[in-house]
Amino acid sequence: MTEIVGLGYLGLYAEKLDDWRTYGTEVLGLQNVSEKIGVESDTVLLRADEQSWRFAIHQGETGGAAYIGWEVANRRALDDLGDRLSAAGVTVEEDQACAQERRVEGLIRCVDPDGHRLEFFYGPHIPKYPFVSPRGVRFVTGDLGLGHVFFFVTDLDAAKEFYLGSLGFRLSDTIEFHGRKVHFLHVNPRHHSLAFVQNEELAPALGHFMLEVDDIDDVGRTLDEVDSRGVTLTETLGRHTNDRAISFFMKNPSGSEVEYGYDGRLVDDTTWRVTNYDATSLWGHHRDRPDTDSES
Ligand SMILES: [Fe+2]
Repeated sequence: MTEIVGLGYLGLYAEKLDDWRTYGTEVLGLQNVSEKIGVESDTVLLRADEQSWRFAIHQGETGGAAYIGWEVANRRALDDLGDRLSAAGVTVEEDQACAQERRVEGLIRCVDPDGHRLEFFYGPHIPKYPFVSPRGVRFVTGDLGLGHVFFFVTDLDAAKEFYLGSLGFRLSDTIEFHGRKVHFLHVNPRHHSLAFVQNEELAPALGHFMLEVDDIDDVGRTLDEVDSRGVTLTETLGRHTNDRAISFFMKNPSGSEVEYGYDGRLVDDTTWRVTNYDATSLWGHHRDRPDTDSES
């Protein structure tokens, strides 16, 4: 029961696509491949590595995620996952038109307990032209997939049953504080590809997504860009207790946040033990709003 191998891509809505064209490239260091791929002007495609794209920003009301793409290894894994979701009572649809649009070989989709659209795919397109970061950044992806996503969920038990039970994510650890327990889940050696916490005031919502770079200096340089461009910093530089990543958090033009970090810990399933922490960070990660000092 381990079909999902990584976070593949993320679709977001934004009211001002031009903000993403600047932010995505000049702050995050992603490559804008919209013209190269030839998408309509209501979409911005951003690339982070050898895959043709990793982020799609669509014109629309800001907030939430349009869709989250989870990668499986091949057709058989996709079929197995579809069968298992159906057996668990989840409505799953194969969507070849969507697969073409996402530039993948095959794709099925469903919604999670909070209504987020999930897409499971295999066979992403790898073009021959190289990834060129406009800021010279190298993202840590490959077998670890594309960083992680963090959700505020309305019903923790439902989220656990769906992601740990039906989808086969594996629990890495939890962080308990302010009466809430954040759950961190992995599908490959990356410490977590998904995290969620129940929060009635904020859910359902994408809290943040994380991008990992391979050089601490690129975290620092990005922090300089955030500072000089007036991007809203939401958590100062810090190191998380559980995945040990050194990172900071900032707003993105879709209203959610981006965690930009380095040195995330790897999980070895043969020796890993689940633990429970009582703080999100060893140091740093300070928020102006103390009541929401909550994310990892
Ligand atoms: Fe995070």
